[in-house]
Amino acid sequence: MKQYRIALYPGDGIGQDVTLAARRVLEQTQEKFGTFSLSFEVFPWGCDYYDDHGVVAPDDFLEKLRLFDAIYLGALGFPSRLPDHITLQPIIRIRQAFDLYACVRPAKIHAGVRSPLADPGEIDMVVVRENSEGEYVSMGGNFKVDNPHEVAIQTAVHTRHGVERILRFSFQLAQTRRQKLTMITKSNAQRFGFVLWDRVLEKLRDNYPDVTTNQLHIDAATLQFVNNPDSLDVVVASNLFGDILTDLSGAITGSLGLNPSANLNPEREHPSLFEPVHGSAPDISGRGIANPVAAILSAAMMLDWLGAQEAALAVERAVSSTLAAECGTPDIGGNLNTEEMTECIVERIKV
Ligand code: NAI
Ligand code: MG
Repeated sequence: MKQYRIALYPGDGIGQDVTLAARRVLEQTQEKFGTFSLSFEVFPWGCDYYDDHGVVAPDDFLEKLRLFDAIYLGALGFPSRLPDHITLQPIIRIRQAFDLYACVRPAKIHAGVRSPLADPGEIDMVVVRENSEGEYVSMGGNFKVDNPHEVAIQTAVHTRHGVERILRFSFQLAQTRRQKLTMITKSNAQRFGFVLWDRVLEKLRDNYPDVTTNQLHIDAATLQFVNNPDSLDVVVASNLFGDILTDLSGAITGSLGLNPSANLNPEREHPSLFEPVHGSAPDISGRGIANPVAAILSAAMMLDWLGAQEAALAVERAVSSTLAAECGTPDIGGNLNTEEMTECIVERIKV
């Protein structure tokens, strides 16, 4: 029997609730299939940990996480308790240290869920976000701090190696889907970093003759996400643009509470990390009404990555049928709480 060791990192706010939901579902798949066993270790890092230890995670947190087959994260951050640039440091460090350069974020319209768009069509896209460099490299500094003439410099770093590997990953993903790849940049204004993306795409294109490519600037991309989202298949973007576009892909598919993500090290040299696209939602935290679907579908992506494809599919089917039956939390117009909705999904996995 395959054994998978999972590090659970619930984090803050609704991260706690949705991680419980994901664990409940994972345990149910283990029981139903009997072909793999999961062991969990919970790491209570985040704002509470900070209250006791003065840091959001211990110094050796990367060494601890390195020992697992996969990392499952709820969400980090709670701005009224601690500034985000402190609480979110661990996730940025994990992505960079474990070279989780491919952040895969599917978004599709589920039967039973209403999109805020009048005519959304059959949205079924995957946004691939470059996850290791770009705008989220901590490079820069402040000069004349707190002076009226203070200067802040924040540099984006795009490397040929980084751009090439994320584009290859995206081409290969497109080959398994509808063979369409849309690359998002702002190369008309940022002529060093994003023109590099243009040049690398040009160089790679001929190696994937079966994939049709299209290039959009980020401003035009937001238009297309709203006006014509069903035309999109695989979308590849830099770290910042991918981050922004996936809140939008959540909104147009009915709720940010529905969309999962996988932070992958495709070479499998380090554990990959799975988490919902959404954050810790302080506005609904503590009320038990967070939509667990994004977290549960992230757990399905983790099962798939680990090699339990059948179990992953069963989870996806259970989620689809729950949503089709219009069983849902308030964000999608329902009246179930997190636990009740999770149980609806668990019941459908059992059958
Ligand atoms: P958010 O994603 O937490 O929430 C945005 C909106 O979506 C809120 O109205 C929230 O109620 C709603 N929402 C999110 N998840 C939901 C769910 N599962 N069910 C129902 N509604 C849901 O983004 P926000 O408010 O900008 O950030 C809150 C905190 O989360 C901040 O500290 C932010 O830095 C952090 N954050 C952390 C991330 C991570 O850990 N990877 C990702 C994004 C934000
Ligand atoms: Mg985000």
